[in-house]
Amino acid sequence: MATAGKVIKCKAAVAWEANKPLAIEEIEVEPPQANEVRVKIVATGLCRTDLFYLIETDKKDLYPMVLGHEGAGIVESVGPGVTEFQPGDRVVPLIVSQCRECRFCKSPKTNQCENAWDIVPHNVSRAPVSKLSCKGNKLLQFMGISTFSQYSVINQIALAKIDPAAPLDKVCLLGCGVCTGFGAAVNNAKVEPDSTCAVFGLGAVGMAAIMGCKYAGAKRIIAVDINADKFDKAKEFGATDFVNPKDHNKPISQVISEMTGGGVDYSLECVGDVKLMHTALESCVPSWGVSVIVGWTDREEFSARPNDLISGRTWKGSMFGGFKGKDGVAEMVQAYMNKKVKLDEFITHKMPLDRINEAIELLKQGKSIRTVLSVTPQ
Ligand code: APR
Ligand code: ZN
Repeated sequence: MATAGKVIKCKAAVAWEANKPLAIEEIEVEPPQANEVRVKIVATGLCRTDLFYLIETDKKDLYPMVLGHEGAGIVESVGPGVTEFQPGDRVVPLIVSQCRECRFCKSPKTNQCENAWDIVPHNVSRAPVSKLSCKGNKLLQFMGISTFSQYSVINQIALAKIDPAAPLDKVCLLGCGVCTGFGAAVNNAKVEPDSTCAVFGLGAVGMAAIMGCKYAGAKRIIAVDINADKFDKAKEFGATDFVNPKDHNKPISQVISEMTGGGVDYSLECVGDVKLMHTALESCVPSWGVSVIVGWTDREEFSARPNDLISGRTWKGSMFGGFKGKDGVAEMVQAYMNKKVKLDEFITHKMPLDRINEAIELLKQGKSIRTVLSVTPQ
């Protein structure tokens, strides 16, 4: 590669400060150092978590930053010590690393990786780890990834190598939302055939959770959202019943309990709302219901009554759908290629990176499931 070892100038969407539109800028991307890989990002999805850090944040020290963590691309060059990747490989950046060597990676009980915490402290990579800069400012790399840039430098433990035949503008969605929802149902809730499920929140994560419930053989899947426009899509993914909390003046857990003769077997909260987490818990059957928290928040505390659990319920959380990063993404890419899981159906909008602020508006207004942004022509 003619660019190997050199600084690359390219386009990126930069978040200079919270609550402001992203600015399309020319940035500089340094060559990869030890264990790092420079990746040409081809496509990226826009996820709710990007907005969470852009809009709802009070953390001023997160700027300037390049957001984006749901992407796919092609290896441009590799730094010293990288043996798993070579230029031309197709990759998906990982929000959950897999070093394969730490205590966590060696345990089948978790998808956490201890070494991730060294490369991505507090969800961002700072200098000297961040290799991105603009107008003399170091840019923080969101989750150590930053897919809203044509090139990024990512640690090799946070990249999955994928089937070279996979379409990057589709499999980018496996970098976060789709694996998160699908895996939450299949790996964390462990939905069983003929069971009843309820999924709260019908964004990409909730839709993927519905797809997971169906994949696992659930016979009844209740989709819950305050935006009724989402119900048609939910049906496409396998939902059988639809509940809009705005249509009811009693607690939704009671509505669901009445619909199911005492509660669903599995419930999944895919919003990140602490009150809804409690509702989801109370919607599953007291004796054996399993409720999984998929939606993300680190701002608030939740509550429940001990007897909610003492009666026999299980309340658990799910990060990246329980998938180990490298293995899970490669496996889900294969499942898509073999038509076992859907991806195209999540994509409601497509546009170039330059129009990212439009994509942000669509997501904020609940008009998109996923917008896929083309970042660099292939
Ligand atoms: N009850 C029911 N549905 C709700 C409620 C509520 N109280 N509040 C919001 N919703 C619905 C919205 O109408 C929307 O359809 O939840 C959905 C959320 O979808 P998106 O905003 O598209 O979010 P998504 O990308 O799916 O992510 C959901 O998972 O990984 C996490 O950080 C992510 O916390 C976020 C969550
Ligand atoms: Zn590890």
